[in-house]
This record gives sequence, structure tokens and C-alpha cells, in this order.
Amino acid sequence: MSRDITALIDKLELQHTLSLEEYAALVQGRTPDAMRDIAARAQHIRRDVYGTAVYVRGLIEFTNLCKNNCLYCGIRRSNHHCDRYRLTTDEILACCASGYELGFRTFVLQGGEDGYWSDEILCRLVMQIRTLYPDCAITLSVGERSRESYQRLYEAGASRYLLRHETADKAHYEKLHPAEMSFDNRMRCLQDLKEIGYQVGCGFMVGSPWQTPETLAEDLKFIEEFSPDMCGIGPFIPHKDTPLGDHPAGTLDETLWLLSIIRLMLPHVLLPATTALGTIHPKGREMGILAGANVVMPNLSPVSVRKKYELYDNKICTGDEAAECRACLAGRMKSIGYELTTDRGDVRRN
Ligand code: 5AD
Ligand code: FES
Repeated sequence: MSRDITALIDKLELQHTLSLEEYAALVQGRTPDAMRDIAARAQHIRRDVYGTAVYVRGLIEFTNLCKNNCLYCGIRRSNHHCDRYRLTTDEILACCASGYELGFRTFVLQGGEDGYWSDEILCRLVMQIRTLYPDCAITLSVGERSRESYQRLYEAGASRYLLRHETADKAHYEKLHPAEMSFDNRMRCLQDLKEIGYQVGCGFMVGSPWQTPETLAEDLKFIEEFSPDMCGIGPFIPHKDTPLGDHPAGTLDETLWLLSIIRLMLPHVLLPATTALGTIHPKGREMGILAGANVVMPNLSPVSVRKKYELYDNKICTGDEAAECRACLAGRMKSIGYELTTDRGDVRRN
């Protein structure tokens, strides 16, 4: 392991900040030895902050209709092979009920940018969940909206919001998205969410087409400065019915490397071992936890719609009931010396 890389890891661990050039060098400095070293440090830090608890978030994929056309995403509006669905309020509440029974205290409502869910309708849903489950945290992940909309949803009872920035490099963003989508608007959304008071999650795909060490350095610098409560990163996985379907997937090792870097940078951040990571390797999520992640997000959506929320090919867990996923994950975490915890899992700020 080169002395330069060890020095960069030391500096990141102590100072939680590097320059863009240093981040780019660190991104490129991955070796098997360096991976072992940084993962050991990352695990140590997450154990100091969160012990061996792994937080669970119940993910409800409540609509796959989407007005956007992101070039990488399987539910983009131009994918006519995608079988569209939208859960009813009753179906969503039934997912919450079964999740609650299983011990989930955080619900993540995730969906495409589906115009049906106006502020009024979505606020009503949030208020219903808030009233039925006052002890649960409600997280939204429904894309770009106006500041006023975010404000209303916050007042209705949503307290967390996940919106990946996708890439912090504007030119790279423009390659991954059609011209009608705007990098500046995405960044505006993230700032608004934070200012309103949400616990905010940003994030990006590892190995997305045209990603370079330099764009990754910008991602890391952005994350350092934005200091999100959560940071979702997972490998890019091509979806056959998208314009980027022929590009190679991101790798396990690079994802693990970046998870460890982010843990050193932000010791308190909530860092999920994502479904995409579990899709590219059968033990991906376990390895993610061992690289410094501390959150898993099993699916609570009805099995009947699971396969339809296919952002990328071969997504795992599409045939399993929520209870099976929870039990499966509990076993997986136990096998590596960690345990699932059912509390709300608020971020620890210090
Ligand atoms: N591979 C991996 N992740 C993807 N996402 C969308 N499409 C893909 C893909 N092909 C991620 C995006 C989005 C999140 C919900 O899923 O980062 O923000
Ligand atoms: Fe879904 Fe293992 S986590 S089946």
C-alpha cells in the first residue's frame, strides 16, 4: 500500500476534509490492502457512533409513473416496456400496517415523478400516516418539487427526504439526463429541503457512464460540504430498455471503497448498503456494512408490483414478502456480527 494513500486516509480520518485533487488521488488509489485498511477504520468509526446496530427503513415504492426521462433509469417515461402502476392510498396504508407489525418505524415513500400526486393528495397521505403512526418517521423520495411543495409536505408530517444529486459535475449531469432536466434545479431542491428542516439524503451511482476520478472528487467534495444526514450510493446497473443499457455496471470494490471514504469523511452519516449493491453481488449488502454502511432498506411494497419498479436489471427481492426480506436481512446482519434495530434510527449529530 503506497505511503501516499495511507497519508490521504490518515488525513481524511483526522480532518474529515480533503482537496479536490486529494479526493481524486484517493479515488484512484484503491488497492486490496488499502481497501482492507480503510474498511477497518470505517467499521471502527461506525461502531463508535452507532455500535453494531443496523437501521432498517421500510421502502414503499408507491408509483412507477414518471414524467422524467433520466437516461439510466428503467422507469423513465420513454420506456414503453415498463408496466406502470400506482398504489392506492389504502394499498399504501396496508404496506405501512404490515411494516409496523414487523417492527418498522420509518417508512420511505418512494416513487417516480408522477403528476397524480399533487401537494394536496400527497399531503393528505402523509397526514394519514402521521396520524396512524405518530411514532414513525416519514421519509419522502419523490423527486424534484417546488420549495412551497416541500414546505407543505414537511408541515404535513414528512421529516426526511431522499433526493440523490446523481453527480456533482454539471457537464456529467447533463450527459446522464435529457436537456429538459437541470442540474441547478436539482441542487436548488437539495438546498431548499435542508433549509426547510428535513433530514436530507443525497447520493450518486458508482460507475455511472462518463464518471471519472475527477467527477467523483466533486461528488465527495459536495457531500463533505453539504453534510447530508444520509448518503445513498450504489453501483450503476444497466437497464436493457434504456439508452445506457449497453454500458458496464459499476463495481463492487469501487462501491465499497467509496462507502468507506464517506464514513471517514462524515462519521455520523446514515449510509445504506443499497439494494443495487446486493444485486451486483450476493453478499453485497453484508460487505457494504463491513465497509462502514449502517442502514438497509428492505422493500415493503406489495409483491404484485415489485418487479415493475425496476430501475435496473435483475433487481433482488422482487419475489419476497416484507416479512421474508426482514428475516433474511436479520440473518444476513447476524452472520457478520450486527443486528437490525427497529427504532426510528435518527441521525446522531454528535
Ligand atoms: N442503476 C443503479 N441505480 C439507479 N438508479 C436509477 N437507475 C439506476 C440504475 N440503472 C438510482 C438513482 C436514483 C435512485 C432512486 O435509483 O440514483 O436516484
Ligand atoms: Fe429481501 Fe433477502 S432482503 S429476500
